Order: sequence, then structure tokens, then C-alpha cells
Amino acid sequence: MLSSVTVLTPPLSAEIFFVALYLSTIKAKIMRSVNWDYNKQLVNMIDQRQLPSVFERVELTSYQEVATAIREMYVRGAPAIGAAAAYGIALAAQQSKTHDLLAFRQDMADAAKNLQATRPTAVNLFWALERIMAVVRNEAYDNIASIRTEVLAEAQRLADEDVEINQRLACNGAALVNDGDTILHHCNTGSLATVDWGTALGVIRMANQQGKNIHVLLDETRPRLQGARLSAWECEQYNIPYSIIVDNAAGHFMRTGQVNIVFVGSDRTAANGDVANKIGTYKLGVVARENGIPFFPVVPTSTVDLSLSTGDDIPIEERDGTEITELTLFGRPIAPKGAKVRNPAFDVTPHKYVTGIVTEHSVVYPPFKVNLRNVVTAEQAKISN
Ligand code: MRU
Repeated sequence: MLSSVTVLTPPLSAEIFFVALYLSTIKAKIMRSVNWDYNKQLVNMIDQRQLPSVFERVELTSYQEVATAIREMYVRGAPAIGAAAAYGIALAAQQSKTHDLLAFRQDMADAAKNLQATRPTAVNLFWALERIMAVVRNEAYDNIASIRTEVLAEAQRLADEDVEINQRLACNGAALVNDGDTILHHCNTGSLATVDWGTALGVIRMANQQGKNIHVLLDETRPRLQGARLSAWECEQYNIPYSIIVDNAAGHFMRTGQVNIVFVGSDRTAANGDVANKIGTYKLGVVARENGIPFFPVVPTSTVDLSLSTGDDIPIEERDGTEITELTLFGRPIAPKGAKVRNPAFDVTPHKYVTGIVTEHSVVYPPFKVNLRNVVTAEQAKISN
């Protein structure tokens, strides 16, 4: 069963903020959105559904629980989902009771299939599972005990690399931020959406930490309100000046010259630079272009899917309509009972609206078809060496 420890969110005073920031940097593991508990041999993650009111970590002891946690968005955000799924296979390796190597590998394949079916858009889920399953299939490991050890080791490497990659992304992106900038941001792309640090919000955190005087406009991000709930909570933790805006206000702020640069994340980026991200991102790209505002998705190379030539091939998750109809105002549902709803969770911003793509390697500019492939290949070569 999912079990939890509840702690009221601690408001950080200014004095302890710098100590906390320092500790979060050198002891990143305690701050991670998802991690492996080596004492209890289980997965531990922040239950993001409870934020910002309650900070709660849950313990997961089976891959089925990890699948539920991904589907029900205890954990969300492309890289965080990938890491959770990787640890899920480590749990499956513990759960399997067979002594037969073939049957064990089949158990792992079944677990991977189950985890793959949780959410369709973020490619990191499939990328992470493939990376772990390559270990499971590796003939060099010819007994169950060694596969168990290596699967956990690979999941841990993947999680550790995510943090390191995000810090490189953050440095590359922060170089684009000028002192005095107002930054527009969509969804949540911070520590909670990754293992730690974050992508677009990681860039913002880095610029703030570098002492740049910035202000962030956070789209509230309907319907799950990741911006108002999670990004705002993270800005509080890192002392980043911010204002929450309703999604529909973004165009107003851009047209009236109150936004200098836009940073968003990505759940999957196609080979031509088309970017799938949280629903509403496309409108931001179009309005940014119309108003001459630079628009930068922040994208670890693990989020680039070179097998898809354009964003039209990216599967778009459509979630349950209750996410919209069951929101309440003054204690009452906002929509008539039985109202029909369409609820796509992501959209695709065509590459013509993208100024550049911030990766851990460098900031990639058009032509994306050539330049994106070059940096992804360079990063993949680094991992295999
Ligand atoms: O539906 P979610 O909350 O998983 O969507 C998250 C996003 O769209 C993020 O912006 C995205 O994962 C990219 S940044 C890590």
C-alpha cells in the first residue's frame, strides 16, 4: 500500500533560505522529488497532489503502485516520470519470486509494459524504461541477483544524471536572461517535475541565484494548476520573485511589453524542433512570435524523440473531463452536472515559433532538423563512453 508521512509545508524564513539552498545543492538527494530508499528498499516520492498546502512523501513498494502514482499524478513532469518508472522496474526485480532467468526477464517486461501504459506523451517514460530494460536483456548478466543489482544501479545513475543535466541546462539557459527581465513561464518545470533542479524553472532558479534581478509571471496552468500550485510553491522555496497570472492574461502581458522572454518545458520534442508541452504552450509561442519576444523551450536531450520527424506524430494524452468539471468555486462545481468536456493535456508548438531550444549541451538554434540531431547524438555518445 502507498503509505505516507505528512508534514505541514515549512515556510522558509530569509535567514534559513540560504542555508536551505546550500543544503539542497550539496545534499540534493533529500530534496529529490523521487528517490530510492536504500534502508527500506522502496521508492519514496513527494505526493504532488497535496501541494502547496501539505508536503507529504509516500512510500511505494510495488511497480503497480508506481504505475498508479504516475497515472494519478502523485509524480508528474517528464523527467520525474521517467525516473519513477526506472525505480519501478527496480521494485519489480525485487517482487519477482521466480528462480528462472527467462521467467524473471519476462516479469520485468510485463512490469515495463504496465508502466508504459500510464501516460503517453512524455517520451522520458519510454526512454527510461528502454534504458533499464537494456540492462535486463543484457546477456552479460546471467543470474537474477546480478540483474537485480544492476537494474537498481542503472535507475540510480539515471536519476543522478537527471540532476546533473538539469544543472547544465540551467547554466545554458540562465545566460539568456538579462538583469531586470520579466520571464513568462508555463506549467511546472522545476525540481518537482524532474528529479531535482528542473528545466525551465531550473533556468529561472539559476538566474535568480546568479543575482539577476528577475520577476516571473507564472501561468496558473489549467486544469491541474501546476503553475499556481507547484511552480509558485517552488518559487517560495527558492525566494524567486513571482506573480501568478491566469492563463488568459499571458497575451495581455506580452502585447503590452511586460514580458522579456518566455521559458517553457517539453514532454517530447520531435526531430524538426516541434515541441509538445503542457496544454496552452502553443498559444504562448504564437503570441510571443507576434510580439517579437524570444520563446525558449528548455529540453534535456532525453526529451528529444529523433524517431518522430514532426510534432504531428506525438501522441497527445486526453485526460478525464472530471479534471475540469470537478473544480469548485465557493464550494460548488464550476460546470453543470453531466457537462461534456474535451481535456487534451498537451499541445504541440511548431518549430517556426521556437527561437531556440536550451539543452544541457548548448542552446540550439534553427535549422533544428540538423542542429538538434547533432547535439542529441553528441550527448548520447558521452553516455555510451
Ligand atoms: O501533465 P504534467 O504535469 O506531467 O505535465 C508536465 C509538463 O508539461 C512540464 O512542463 C513538462 O514535463 C516539461 S518540464 C519537466
